[in-house]
This record gives sequence, structure tokens and C-alpha cells, in this order.
Amino acid sequence: MPPGSIPVLLIEDTPSLARVYAEYLKKESHTVIAVETGAEALVQLNDGAPKVVLLDLQLPDMNGMEVLKRIDAQALPCAVIVITAHGSVKAAVEAMRYGAYDFLVKPFSADRLVVTVRNAMERLRLAQLVDTFEKDLNRARYHGFIGSSLAMQAVYRIVDSAASSRATVFITGESGTGKEVCAEAIHRQSQRAARPFIAINCGAIPKDLMESEIFGHVKGSFTGAVSDREGAAARADGGTLFLDEICELAPDLQTKLLRFIQTGTFTPVGGSKLEKVDLRIVCATNRDPLREVEEGRFREDLYYRLHVIPIHLPPLREREDDLLEIARHYLAEFAQEEKKGFKRFSPEAEQALRHYHWPGNVRQLQNVVRIVAVLQDGDTVTAEMLPSPLGTPPHAASASPPASPPAAAAPVPRPHAPPSPDSIKPLWEVEKDAIEDAIAACDGNIPRAAALLQISASTIYRKRLAWQAEGKL
Ligand SMILES: Nc1ncnc2c1ncn2[C@@H]1O[C@H](COP(=O)(O)OP(=O)(O)OP(=O)(O)O)[C@@H](O)[C@H]1O
Ligand SMILES: [Mg+2]
Repeated sequence: MPPGSIPVLLIEDTPSLARVYAEYLKKESHTVIAVETGAEALVQLNDGAPKVVLLDLQLPDMNGMEVLKRIDAQALPCAVIVITAHGSVKAAVEAMRYGAYDFLVKPFSADRLVVTVRNAMERLRLAQLVDTFEKDLNRARYHGFIGSSLAMQAVYRIVDSAASSRATVFITGESGTGKEVCAEAIHRQSQRAARPFIAINCGAIPKDLMESEIFGHVKGSFTGAVSDREGAAARADGGTLFLDEICELAPDLQTKLLRFIQTGTFTPVGGSKLEKVDLRIVCATNRDPLREVEEGRFREDLYYRLHVIPIHLPPLREREDDLLEIARHYLAEFAQEEKKGFKRFSPEAEQALRHYHWPGNVRQLQNVVRIVAVLQDGDTVTAEMLPSPLGTPPHAASASPPASPPAAAAPVPRPHAPPSPDSIKPLWEVEKDAIEDAIAACDGNIPRAAALLQISASTIYRKRLAWQAEGKL
């Protein structure tokens, strides 16, 4: 670290001495902030920025030791060198107990001052380096991610180092592992963070509309194109374009996307003018992209263009360490939203969560916690409260079932009578009714309806879009 990048805060009330010390230090290119009182020193320390502090113990308004204690109590990033008069070395030694780095006994030479400050500077630099490494190595949160497992630390590090580049990132991972969270993290971590992040889901948009979704269209280019419309590529100019479920992209659009990536230019549907944008592409899929290539569904040349920086998100069952961290986070969040008193999971509930294999990954875990927060109440989530297949069925826990049903047992429901053929509805309609009923029952709250139906909210959005496109909604 060059001298001057960390300032030296000089706290000395004798102006002639302060001037001499400042001279010595400036010759070594240090930035010197000189103050004469303890109060002024505290104001300077308030900004919390790293400093080497030269502290005279005898100040007009307070004992220098008070300043030192404040630095110690607030763990400020300072290396303190105490200046003391001849004969008060005892005080200097006491100062060391409060975390002072070294002391100088007046009078001292320019060399002695310069060497002591240089060493303090180096010590501060190393302490900060260790701090950064510790923070980087042990991050429990990173943008939208929760999880301190080693597997996730590796993901955070790739995002850190890939963020500043323009290279395309290809995210793979099972459904619900956080691919969209990852795409947003890349954007937020990059210099493009202040510019737009535009996400489009290649699986959710009807095939005929996809080209216009990405590249926009001009008025009259197809039925329904009543005015010019910017596509995602134009809107993401300067920022990041996230192409989710990239393997669902139709073959003709794969060709157009390849051309766009090669040239950085595109033509809106029905337009004739080439448009140029500067954006970074991030794409994601929960399929195995190489298999899609091998089976001829995804262009190989496009795959290699996109697959520049691969990031694989590990399934939740491989990050047991993260599971409870995530579950507890969502329990606190959903309990607050649902105005419930949940504070913790019981040890049995935690064990059930740990032993389940989580095919739907973090999204499924979120849904399970949401269901508990909506349907149950209390301060502890017990294993019985967890929905199947996680929870213990209500009576499985009791050692032996009652020998005979209680006299006033509820009437046994009659077996379900088969419907008449006329009343049978097509399956899509049954599904649509179930989804629309759930949304209505949740006052229009789609994420909540999705949680209760145990599907993802994006599935609902996708299905509604498809029904709309097919005139079924
Ligand atoms: N590590 C994590 N910590 C906290 N929340 C997470 C984490 N990973 C994912 N989530 C949450 O889980 C849900 C699913 O994440 P996301 O949509 O990013 O998954 P996905 O991999 O894109 O899933 P799909 O393949 O189904 O689209 C989101 O609500 C997201 O906020
Ligand atoms: Mg996704």
C-alpha cells in the first residue's frame, strides 16, 4: 500500500512539535491530519476509515487514554502509536494493554518516527487483508443467496471474478436451485448494476411472440402489432439480458440469437434498420445443455458461444449446511408476513428437513415453510406441522391406535361415486380451475397460491400466459 493512501492522524497539542512531526511524515509522502484536542480527534475517527494514529497522552481536554479506549471499544481500524514524555513509560505500557501498537518516548528522531509509522501502516494493511479474506471465505449471505456451504462459497467466488467481464455466463442447476438469484447477483456485482437487468423466460412466451419479445417489432409487422415496441435486447442496453430456460428457444430463434451475439446487432421484427446494443448475456437452464446439443435440439455453435463462464448451482441435498440457514430465514420472513409467532423449528422438525431429498430444491423448501406459516401457528414448528411427505402423519406418532373407533366418531365419508361421462372436464380445465380457485382463495396472491398448490409461482404465470394466448382465460 503506497504511503498516503492511509492517512496519519496526528493528535498533539504543542503546535511546534506537531509541525516538526508533520514535516517528517510529509517527506515520506504520508497524508497527515493534525488536530490538537481529544474532541477533534474523535470527530476525525468518527468516519470509521482506517488510520495510523499518533497519539499524545497529555491532551488539553482529555487524557489520550480516553481516545485509545474509544478506538478499542469501537474496534476502529486504527494502528495507534502513543507519544509519551520521558518518565511516563508506565502509561505507555498501559496504553499497549488497550491495543496501542507501539510507543515513542519524547524526544525521538525523525528516523524513529518514520520507521514506527511505516511498521504500523504495514500492520494495518495486513490486518485489513486478513479481514477481507475472512469475509470472502465465510460469507453466509451474498446478494439474494443465503448459505455458507463450501459449494456456495465457490459460486460466490466465480460471480465475484466473472462480474466485471462482459463474457456470457451459462448457469445450470436443477429447478429451484437459485439460477435466477445467481443471474441477478452477477448483474448487481458488475459495473452494469445501475443499468437495467432484463429477464425473459424462453419457456414461458409463446413461440410466435418470442422474436418480438427479444428484438422488438415495428408497428403493423404482424396482427396485433399496433405500435412500435422495444424488445428485451434494446431495454437491456448497457445492462444485462437474462435468457432464462434458454434450451426452450425454438431453432429459428437460436439462429437469430447466434447472429445477434456474433454481431452485437439486431433488426426488430418487420423493421429494416440494424440496431446496436451493448449488453451482457446471462442464460440459464435446468436441462443438461450438452445432451440437448447431442440430441439435436440446441445448436452446437450457439452453445459454445453462450457457454463461456459456466456456473453450476448444486442441489440443496448436497448443501446440508445451508438448508437450516435458509429454512430459518424464511420462517422468520413468512411468520412476520402471516402475523404468526414462529421462532424456531423443533429438533425433530429440523431432522425431518435435513433427511428429505428436496427434488424442488430451495423453492420447495420455501413452499414448505410458507405452508406451515399459513396453515399453522405457535412458536415452534414441530415435525407434525410439516406437510407430507416430510411431516409425520398425525397418528403415526402414537404407539398404538385405539382398539375401536370412539362412539361418536365423525361419519365415514361414502366412497367417491364415479362422475357421469357428461360431467368430465378436460384435464387442462380441471387444472385451470384448481389454480384460479387457489388464487381467488388467496386474495390474488399468486406466490401464496403457488405455495399451497406446491408448485412454483412461475408455473402459474407460465400457464396463465399460455391459456391467455390460446384464448382459454
Ligand atoms: N441460496 C438461496 N438462498 C435463499 N433463497 C434462495 C436461494 N436459492 C434460491 N432461493 C429462492 O428460491 C426460489 C427459487 O430460486 P430461483 O427462481 O432463482 O431458482 P431457479 O433455479 O431459477 O428455478 P427454476 O429452474 O425452476 O426456474 C426463489 O424464491 C429464490 O429467492
Ligand atoms: Mg428460474
